Amino acid sequence: MLVLGIESSCDETAVAVVEVGKKGLSVRSSLVASQVAFHRPFGGIVPEIASRKHVEVIYALCQEALREARVELSAIDLLAVTNGPGLVGSLVVGVSFAKALAYGLNKSLSPVDHVKAHSLAIFLEKPIEFPFISLVVSGGHTALFLVKSPTEHYLLGQTRDDAAGEAFDKVAKLLDLGYPGGPLISRLAETGEASKIDLPRPMLDSPDLDFSFSGLKTAVLNLVRSGRAFMVHDLCAAFETAVCEVLMEKSRRALKQLGLKRLVVSGGVAANRRLRESFAKLAETEGLEVYFPPPVYCTDNAAMVAIAGYYEFMAGNTADLKLDVYARSQFPRYPG
Ligand SMILES: Nc1ncnc2c1ncn2[C@@H]1O[C@H](COP(=O)(O)OP(=O)(O)OP(=O)(O)O)[C@@H](O)[C@H]1O
Ligand SMILES: [Mg+2]
Repeated sequence: MLVLGIESSCDETAVAVVEVGKKGLSVRSSLVASQVAFHRPFGGIVPEIASRKHVEVIYALCQEALREARVELSAIDLLAVTNGPGLVGSLVVGVSFAKALAYGLNKSLSPVDHVKAHSLAIFLEKPIEFPFISLVVSGGHTALFLVKSPTEHYLLGQTRDDAAGEAFDKVAKLLDLGYPGGPLISRLAETGEASKIDLPRPMLDSPDLDFSFSGLKTAVLNLVRSGRAFMVHDLCAAFETAVCEVLMEKSRRALKQLGLKRLVVSGGVAANRRLRESFAKLAETEGLEVYFPPPVYCTDNAAMVAIAGYYEFMAGNTADLKLDVYARSQFPRYPG
């Protein structure tokens, strides 16, 4: 089965062709058109610019993805599209485009939740047994899920304010490093010494599986405003370490509470090297299976949308031309 995945929830337009067969899965093409250069002067995403840029590139990007995959549009069996969560104006572009293709080709259309797609990106590399705990850490989300099957995500905990990626971006902004902040902080942190600066580990004394990152950002702000001398790379290392420790400890607790040993970490922040190395160590010391998708499938892409759409289709979840978009996901809570 050839699945065309379409993603336009935020500031990346992405199209991918994924083939799912009896022998497994292959990503025939996965193209991402980033809008970062257009948003950078504003230090964050401007929704109006985002929607317009999606409109400008989506058609050409789709043609290029088909060409690279050596697939005719008429050979596509299923359309998979992100219809939430995200920026409504941006989502509408991808969803309208996918609807038009589904109608024209007379093929099924599967709606995909972007957060679920992050969580399932690991399947692009290897199959994982269910159930598992999924930690999604991205620009807009930081949440822990119990994943019982590809289409069943139960929320265990989530951030009460900023997402981890958002905290990286805000800290980078207040240090005048640029946008997006994650990769910039990560690069500087490599030569920094985390132990030189003391930062809080928010929510670790709270018994639930929720997170909070705005206090950490404020601690960085207070340090910058205090006029105390510090090295930027030490601060980057300290901030990155604090984020990693909180994410690891809450994930460890989630696994323990659910009596599971399998963890999948995904979303843009999962591209972070320190996070990957810290979790690898945790896996070794605690006898856990911890999986990270390859970094290109951690940040936004449409291959993850295609695979998530395939699973939705297999579960009977298809949409008609009335398919709407949504800004926020509503996941059922575990244990209910
Ligand atoms: N190496 C890295 N270290 C830390 N953070 C990173 C790294 N690479 C990317 N990020 C962060 O990941 C985020 C982008 O991830 P992603 O593309 O998954 O988010 P999004 O799609 O904007 O948000 P969401 O998926 O929640 O809708 C940004 O906040 C960015 O700073
Ligand atoms: Mg994302």
